[in-house]
Amino acid sequence: MCGKFISLEGMDGAGKSTHIPTILNALKLRGAEVVSTREPGGTLLGEQLRELLLQQDMHPETEALLMFAARREHIAQVIEPALVRGAYVVTDRFADASFAYQCGGRGISFEKMLDLESWVQGGLQPDVTLLFDVPVEVSIQRLASARAPDKFERETADFFNRIRNAYLRRAADCPERFRVIDANRDIDAVRQSVEEIVASI
Ligand code: TYD
Repeated sequence: MCGKFISLEGMDGAGKSTHIPTILNALKLRGAEVVSTREPGGTLLGEQLRELLLQQDMHPETEALLMFAARREHIAQVIEPALVRGAYVVTDRFADASFAYQCGGRGISFEKMLDLESWVQGGLQPDVTLLFDVPVEVSIQRLASARAPDKFERETADFFNRIRNAYLRRAADCPERFRVIDANRDIDAVRQSVEEIVASI
């Protein structure tokens, strides 16, 4: 596989979606194919699973298994073929979100997550992960103005704290892959950091 795999992560309300066009445009200027996708989702089946995952209450292990089921389909149908073609693949969330939300947030054991990760991904990991980091109070404040919050966005400050900590722990465990962005700044300052990181890929 000769493409590059880039994932974007962060708590709800961290603002990562705002910066996706900047990333895609910077990569397109290089003349290579750019594939923009998301999780849960990215395939027909994955988008159907997303509907369930974002709206319906379920057992935490069911949630984790469905996240990885959607991911298996995403890898097989979208990510691997694009990387083989030599494309840049930019995904709005990938497996680090499962470590943050299902492991950190819901309390699924780390060992079970590692098993799922190795089953579903083999050795596949993003080449670079941009983690948009904001304090929990900022995330909650930004979500308060969201019109129709989904199941995760309605969670408590405690849940968001565990997610942030899990993301930061994962970034500390994989420093060669993660670029942590202080997203508690104005949009232009964050955009500049994003552009610098993309230029270095
Ligand atoms: P999100 O990416 O924030 O989309 P939008 O910007 O449209 O709200 O929503 C996806 C939600 O799914 C988010 O709350 C995190 C959650 N999620 C998990 O809990 N585990 C996962 O493995 C993934 C990929 C997402």
